Amino acid sequence: MNINDLNISTFGDLNNRPLIFVHGFPLNSGMWENQTRELSSDFFVVTYDLRGLGKSPVPQIPYTMFDHADDLLTIICELDLKGPIIGGLSMGGYILQAFLMRHDFKPSGIILTNTRANADDNVAKLRRSNGIGLIRSGKTREFIKDFIPTCFCEKTKILNPEIVEKLIESNLDSDPAGVAGALFAMLSRPDTTEFVKSIDIPSLVIGGSDDLVTPASMMEETFGSIKNVSFNIIPDSGHLSPIEKGTEFNEIVRKFFKNF
Ligand code: MLT
Repeated sequence: MNINDLNISTFGDLNNRPLIFVHGFPLNSGMWENQTRELSSDFFVVTYDLRGLGKSPVPQIPYTMFDHADDLLTIICELDLKGPIIGGLSMGGYILQAFLMRHDFKPSGIILTNTRANADDNVAKLRRSNGIGLIRSGKTREFIKDFIPTCFCEKTKILNPEIVEKLIESNLDSDPAGVAGALFAMLSRPDTTEFVKSIDIPSLVIGGSDDLVTPASMMEETFGSIKNVSFNIIPDSGHLSPIEKGTEFNEIVRKFFKNF
């Protein structure tokens, strides 16, 4: 299905509670495979490719986290999703926070997974800028091959190397302009550290014990004080909990939203 040029997939019964997932960088909606398979018996699961990634074409550049937030609202409105839960991983979490900041729309629950609220500092901005330069010089595939393994924990890389390879493979053909566009949107994203303190929506926060990109301790410090929060750290997981520990991730989601 296509809405505003965004490639959208739905799974499960339309009468179930809607659960929309926003993917991370430099990935596409395929990263939610464990969730679309296992959670679609409980929820009406919606996934989509962010503009510029997967099968969604690159729009006019530049674009920001707020443009991504507007895309998310458009999908919710066009699909007429009532009281959806919105979950975002890492960059997907930045988009979710920008969405809550920008729009009055109130989801019935949120999932912030392996993400952060603070904006890029100068070191991170320089790293993003170097990444954009590399992509501009025609090295997008090298960038993706180097970047994706840093998201997995050592244990996953040793015990399940095929998961890492599969994720690299399924993202290697990403449009260079879309990967660079996402880097620029992250570089220029808002800092939501103060904003998250005002979130008053049932919130599920999920991290990985071995996440080096968005460490569990930092997540707890940032999101631990949200009202109605459930904070969960999945053991032996890196930055990609829904992929590395899909069943555990899904169980946490099911259990939390039984009560909210
Ligand atoms: C992601 O997983 O979306 C990215 O690693 C986030 C980031 O680079 O800040």
